[in-house]
Amino acid sequence: MDIKELKIRAMEELTKAKTSVDLDNFQNKYLSRKGEVSNVLRSLKDLSIKQRKKIGPEANQLRQDLETAFKNKKNSIQGVIRSAGQSPFDITAPGKKIARGHLHPITHILRKIEEIFQSMGFKILEGFDIETEYYNFDALNIPKNHPARDAWDTFWLKTKPELLLRTHTSPMQVRFMEKNNPPFRIIVPGRCFRYEATDASHSHTFYQLEGLMVDRCINIANFKAVIEQFLKKLFGNDIEIRIKPSYFPFVEPGFEAEMKDASGKWMEIMGAGMVHPNVFKAASYVPGEWQGFAFGIGIDRIAMLKYKINDIRLLYSNDLKFLNQF
Ligand code: FA5
Repeated sequence: MDIKELKIRAMEELTKAKTSVDLDNFQNKYLSRKGEVSNVLRSLKDLSIKQRKKIGPEANQLRQDLETAFKNKKNSIQGVIRSAGQSPFDITAPGKKIARGHLHPITHILRKIEEIFQSMGFKILEGFDIETEYYNFDALNIPKNHPARDAWDTFWLKTKPELLLRTHTSPMQVRFMEKNNPPFRIIVPGRCFRYEATDASHSHTFYQLEGLMVDRCINIANFKAVIEQFLKKLFGNDIEIRIKPSYFPFVEPGFEAEMKDASGKWMEIMGAGMVHPNVFKAASYVPGEWQGFAFGIGIDRIAMLKYKINDIRLLYSNDLKFLNQF
């Protein structure tokens, strides 16, 4: 039995120990009841008296030396841990990587769009997800039983009085004009809901951005200039857009703007038009005094064009494989 060799080996191992796990291992290997030092002490009884007299004190000394060295090492490692202010933790253990989130593509594109309209002097407002029939329809020149109501398949709430999930962001037009006088330029981003079947370009929940500019002598050329400027700032100068006549009860005349997607197909991105006199009337403006244009942009459609997404449902799938690409 070579006590010197055992001591050198144990001390070397102790010097290399860096963590509390290393310390535990050391203690088990050398100083526990089944450890190497205890084995040596236990084996003394098998030796001759002469050998026992020589080796006995050496073995006891070895145990004392190792225990002292072990305590010192433990204190010094705990000192490092304490000075790092994390006493219960092993600061030497490798850390866990924390996954950081990022903005949803809809939020991302919405912020860009808001920035562009702000640069053109538009103020940002928010409306309400839950609306009254009056602001969603009647005030917008769509009375009960008007056939145009069919264009907005509605989720009705079981409330008294009856409320609905807004089918478009247009209700904010009259809400805002009731309280504010022209001239003004506003945009209203928000979530909209329609009771309709989903497909690659239609979702029951989607985002719109309403725009409304009212002043004296506003005309269609102003609308075209604002929309072209907006789309060029967002997509660059090479885009192809076309404006077609369309019908919405709250504008006269009404338009629809389309833009070509990556595969060359036309995609409808907004409804728009010159504010109808009946809408000004609902806001109690003096007839004929003001003109304005309004538009409602489909934000999901813009995100699809911008990021080349071919199915709107991907935006609402919560699929990380999809979302992590942005
Ligand atoms: C309207 O909702 C009108 N309020 C727009 C408007 C505002 C016209 C102001 C005139 C003046 P429309 O239903 O066409 O119109 O919707 C406008 C845009 O929202 C569409 O061009 C489309 O881009 C988007 N959109 C409509 N329905 C859906 C849907 N189910 N899923 C995704 N996007 C939709």
